[in-house]
Amino acid sequence: MWNKRFADAGEAFVFGEAPNHFVEAEASALPAGASVLSVADGEGRNSVFLAGRGHPVHAVEFSPVAIAKARGLAARRGVDVRFEEADLFAWDWPEAAYDVALAVFIQFATPAQRVTLFARLAAAVRPGGLLLIHGYTPEQVAYGTGGPPCAEHMYTEPLMRACFAGLEILRLEAYEREIDEGPGHRGRSALIDFVARRPA
Ligand SMILES: C[S@@+](CC[C@H](N)C(=O)[O-])C[C@H]1O[C@@H](n2cnc3c(N)ncnc32)[C@H](O)[C@@H]1O
Repeated sequence: MWNKRFADAGEAFVFGEAPNHFVEAEASALPAGASVLSVADGEGRNSVFLAGRGHPVHAVEFSPVAIAKARGLAARRGVDVRFEEADLFAWDWPEAAYDVALAVFIQFATPAQRVTLFARLAAAVRPGGLLLIHGYTPEQVAYGTGGPPCAEHMYTEPLMRACFAGLEILRLEAYEREIDEGPGHRGRSALIDFVARRPA
């Protein structure tokens, strides 16, 4: 499904070439040179942006079409990203390996899959490192401007607190905003930002 969606878009980027606004805003707070794992990285807009800021980025994504587009974007921007084609549910996740783990719009995950993904994400960050997650709240289903039509895939502030009770939450905010990230994400959207630190 994802591969077809990226292929059907041709040369166009389904979620745009510019970084997501949450990534752009949080990037200024990342330590210089911090290593980043970007999961379900899509067409590379976030990984390429972070690499352009000097971060070594490991981007994992299961759509080869998306990765090909991401490689093209990285080449055009003159940056290096370590792209890896893998299914996150079958991937051998590194542990305590990155300064930062980033997940933007990974709401393909069912509640049961989310438990696994969130645990792997938190474990991938080294002690003292940061976990950044950006997604939708259940109100997004009514907007229909992006994401699956499944409220149970979405996040709430209490859910994020419960899922990451072992982390120090630095920012957790649900809000609404007009977004224009390409045809895949366009219009008023119900969003949630999450930034947390793994205890040292
Ligand atoms: C909504 S897109 C977001 C892409 C990117 N994070 C962004 O913000 O531009 C979701 C991405 O997750 C990828 N994806 C879905 N299931 C996956 C899985 N099991 N393993 C790896 N990537 C997956 C899709 O191919 C797609 O690129």
